Amino acid sequence: MKKQVILLPGDGVGPEIMAGAKAVLDAVAMEFNHEFTYHEHAIGGDAIDRFDTPLPEDTIKACQTADAVLLGAVGGPKWSGRPASGSPESGLLGIRKALGLFANLRPVQSFTPLMHASPLKTELVAGCDIMIVRELTSGLYFGRPSGRSADGSEVVDTLHYTREEIERIVVRGFEAARKRKGRLTSVDKANVLESSRMWREIVEEKARDYPDVTVEHQLVDAAAMKLITNPRHFDVIVTENMFGDILSDEASVLTGSIGMLPSASLRADGLGLYEPVHGSAPDIAGEGIANPLGMILSAAMMLKYSFGMEEEAEAVEKAVIDCLEAGNHTHDLDVKNGNVFGTDMMVRKVVENLSSRSITDAICSS
Ligand code: NAD
Ligand code: IPM
Ligand code: MN
Repeated sequence: MKKQVILLPGDGVGPEIMAGAKAVLDAVAMEFNHEFTYHEHAIGGDAIDRFDTPLPEDTIKACQTADAVLLGAVGGPKWSGRPASGSPESGLLGIRKALGLFANLRPVQSFTPLMHASPLKTELVAGCDIMIVRELTSGLYFGRPSGRSADGSEVVDTLHYTREEIERIVVRGFEAARKRKGRLTSVDKANVLESSRMWREIVEEKARDYPDVTVEHQLVDAAAMKLITNPRHFDVIVTENMFGDILSDEASVLTGSIGMLPSASLRADGLGLYEPVHGSAPDIAGEGIANPLGMILSAAMMLKYSFGMEEEAEAVEKAVIDCLEAGNHTHDLDVKNGNVFGTDMMVRKVVENLSSRSITDAICSS
């Protein structure tokens, strides 16, 4: 199959891990006889530096006509003084909105070789397999009004949803639950927020169409606690934009590192943007030590969700697990034994599990 992928490396460790995802995709293309072509475009701080805007028109256009988009990360201290509307992060929010990517899937899985990497007890973490379905293009992040009064004495952000926006993400949650263990936890703050009360009503309405799915509601504060005291309780979590943002970073602790978590941001027709859950990690950027696995697993999600390449996606996931099982890891994973590798060597170890020695040598420079 021929597929055109837009690469948005962005800032900080973004370009470092993007190179890893591309190497893995090159190995998949050779192994499974596909042709992936890549076009790189600017976003975030990199785009501000080069084009004076965090989201150039050209980037939006390229993504709109592509088969899929891979994104590294945006942001960093260099651009921290800018107003919210011109920040690197606004470029990311802008591309999600422009492409209509309302459904953000964030799988959280505990990997057996990393069981001891989590600060949580092993018996608690073992066997965790959660899918967070986060609403991505509305809610608190996009509601208007948002801003400060002219004299700076007041500030407002708005949590706004239309019925249709809630319905479509809730349906995604039910569909995901139906394909998994059939349990859906809807997370809200219905004891306080009107938006959450409507969210709850809609979940109850949609539940009638999914008699095979067991539904429960949890308040977000309690859910945050249960996520790390009884994580195996959860199958699919569906929630508002900001709640999902916070809960997914928290859930990453189950895997041992935020560097392990991939994500897919989808719209109804299958176009997707794939990025790791973590940020640009400015504290380690440029050192060549970032964990590339969240980015690589995001590329695997792209193969599955945008290209329908289930076998290829599974091969990448297996290559990652085999790499970890061989005792390889990056510095962020607090594993006692084994090899601590930098980004490029870790990528090489994954590529080796997909390809012959000579192909690995041709794809990986180190
Ligand atoms: P962060 O996720 O970048 O980093 C948090 C911690 O996790 C840091 O100690 C970092 O070194 C570590 N870490 C993150 N990814 C890692 C990886 N792949 N390998 C090893 N360690 C890793 O969060 P932050 O420091 O709060 O944010 C930094 C910048 O990134 C901010 O500008 C923020 O807005 C932005 N951000 C962007 C995205 C995105 O582009 N999707 C996501 C989150 C944060
Ligand atoms: C994420 C990030 C973004 C978000 C920021 C950088 C805008 O934290 O992808 O999780 O909050 O959605
Ligand atoms: Mn986040």
